Amino acid sequence: MPKKIEIFDTTLRDGEQTPGISLNVKEKLEIARQLEKLSVDVIEAGFPIASNGDFNAVKAIAENVKGPVITGLARANFKDIDRAAEALKAAERPRIHTFIASSPIHMKYKLKMTEEQVLEAAVAAVKRAKSFVEDVEFSAEDASRSDVEFLCRLFSAAIKAGATVINIPDTVGYTTPGEFGQLIKTIIEKVPEIDKVKVSVHCHDDLGMAVANSLEAVIYGATQVECAVNGLGERAGNAALEEIVMALDTRKDFYQVEHGINTKQIYRTSKMVSTITGIFIQPNKAIVGANAFAHESGIHQHGVLTEKSTYEIMTPQSIGLTTNTLVLGKHSGRHAFAERLKEMGYELSQDELNKAFERFKDLADRKKEISDLDIEAIVEDQVMKL
Ligand code: KIV
Ligand code: ZN
Repeated sequence: MPKKIEIFDTTLRDGEQTPGISLNVKEKLEIARQLEKLSVDVIEAGFPIASNGDFNAVKAIAENVKGPVITGLARANFKDIDRAAEALKAAERPRIHTFIASSPIHMKYKLKMTEEQVLEAAVAAVKRAKSFVEDVEFSAEDASRSDVEFLCRLFSAAIKAGATVINIPDTVGYTTPGEFGQLIKTIIEKVPEIDKVKVSVHCHDDLGMAVANSLEAVIYGATQVECAVNGLGERAGNAALEEIVMALDTRKDFYQVEHGINTKQIYRTSKMVSTITGIFIQPNKAIVGANAFAHESGIHQHGVLTEKSTYEIMTPQSIGLTTNTLVLGKHSGRHAFAERLKEMGYELSQDELNKAFERFKDLADRKKEISDLDIEAIVEDQVMKL
């Protein structure tokens, strides 16, 4: 049986750290309900110590959203952990997610702690979280810039203290696929207790490699991928959920893993998140951009009309869209034009079609995109002249 990759959605936590986004409890609950429909495995609902609003949102999601694991973030200190535990009290499947930085840069400048102090704080944090819930995730922040021997020691100690998930973040989006894959491989080989836990990755997109890095980690044994809808998140964002899922889905032959996502809810989720957050989706964004299933050139349009798989590696229906879009413009051919006429209810003779097509091409030279109204005008004018 293929291994299952769990999808950990952090739209409501790291995603909300996108500059300019601030969600209220109602908005977060609405998104969480949609994430439940999408069938994500884990919803990171927020960072309860960060504000009363965030606490209330995590609490409301824990009380109302059943099915996925609900988690809240906490730094490796008792105050954060106790607050997260309080917010998660009503969750059907609660998880506390605690983290501390492990890289020399973070330990020296941010934490002002030694390796041994970090290790001690991590163990104490995991034990504290474990006193509230069975499921505890431990993250080594800035793992990709950490000393690998220390990282392995830290993860080993966290697992012995009770962690059920260890998370390996590329916090600053610094790593590359080859390097990150090797890091995952080394951790899996060198941490003796690794078989007892889920191995998670959390990649940022500063160099545009978050999705590639996460997928490489899957090849080397990661079993949970942290991601956010539309790639939202701190700075350049997190790995985009829809890209991870559709890559695993479309290239199942290559990755040989399964996921539990209801892909037909992807488009709806993306739209909802964009509308509520006010963060616009670029038209050429993979999977959910307006152009992701649009074909403009005549050669492509003819191909798709004849056999969709010529230029479509996945169907628009698989993400919940009803149809692909043939954008009519100067590169469009007769086949696409005739097809649009048919869709609009026009039945033209060969001669009429030839004349209408000629006028369409003239117009397309002057106008970038030809709308249905333009076509209507061409045809009506044509018919009047006959
Ligand atoms: O990027 C990061 O390291 C994080 C952690 C809190 C997991 O968001
Ligand atoms: Zn992050």
